[in-house]
Amino acid sequence: MALDSNMVIPAHVALILDGNGRWAKKRGLPRTFGHKEGCVTVEKTVEIAARMGIKYLTVYGFSTENWKRSEEEVGALMQLFRYYMVRLLKIASANNVRVKMIGDRRRFAQDIIDGINRLEEETKDNTGLTFVIAVNYGGRDEIRRAAAKLAEDVKAGKVEAEDITESVFASYLDTADIPYPDLLIRTSGELRLSNYLLWQLAYSEIYITDCLWPDFNRDELIKAIVQFNQRDRRFGGVKA
Ligand code: IPE
Ligand code: IPE
Ligand code: MG
Repeated sequence: MALDSNMVIPAHVALILDGNGRWAKKRGLPRTFGHKEGCVTVEKTVEIAARMGIKYLTVYGFSTENWKRSEEEVGALMQLFRYYMVRLLKIASANNVRVKMIGDRRRFAQDIIDGINRLEEETKDNTGLTFVIAVNYGGRDEIRRAAAKLAEDVKAGKVEAEDITESVFASYLDTADIPYPDLLIRTSGELRLSNYLLWQLAYSEIYITDCLWPDFNRDELIKAIVQFNQRDRRFGGVKA
């Protein structure tokens, strides 16, 4: 499948990469095999997005609710983070990709926190795709943390309550310097947000595919972009 040169490439694509467990189950494999394969797909998607000229790609890697999973599954996901953080450093450098993490990283083990900080620091001057990974991320938790920080600033006299506009509030979110997503893609067919980017997705176009995340590829991304180009984004207004 080819991208039509007249097509608008969304500047910011947000992804809920769902279906790793189902992909593994279909093959009679443990869920963690699906996560491994899903990580390979994330790597490929970063390269594809960077080449397509997408400016921001935000993926949901681990939610604030995913800690509810078995100790074994959470442990396997943490091991995969460790492994892929190192690989990502190489991929980011090779593709001029800047990496950023959103979510509350404080809950992770110290070596993972150090790895995240290092990834951000060593890629911060790259000027191509910004690859945002949401880890220990929840939209409600992000809004709660922003509200708490803002309350501190109001208490300290740095901000007046009447000056809190939407953009002032947004500047306290983890995504402060990131534009809102144009397109949200969710794989594996669930019709819900699962606590993803609740503030930021207010006017994003939503595309849901039955494709399981490990099977996602360039053609699937192009299908989503083709649909995005057929949408009429009105932002609450009226088109003539
Ligand atoms: C998404 O796949 C990856 C994470 C949430 C970490 P799932 O693990 O949710 O896969 P399904 O939904 O059970 O198939
Ligand atoms: C959303 O997927 C979270 C991530 C992709 C990291 P889930 O599989 O956790 O969401 P639910 O449980 O189907 O809502
Ligand atoms: Mg799932």
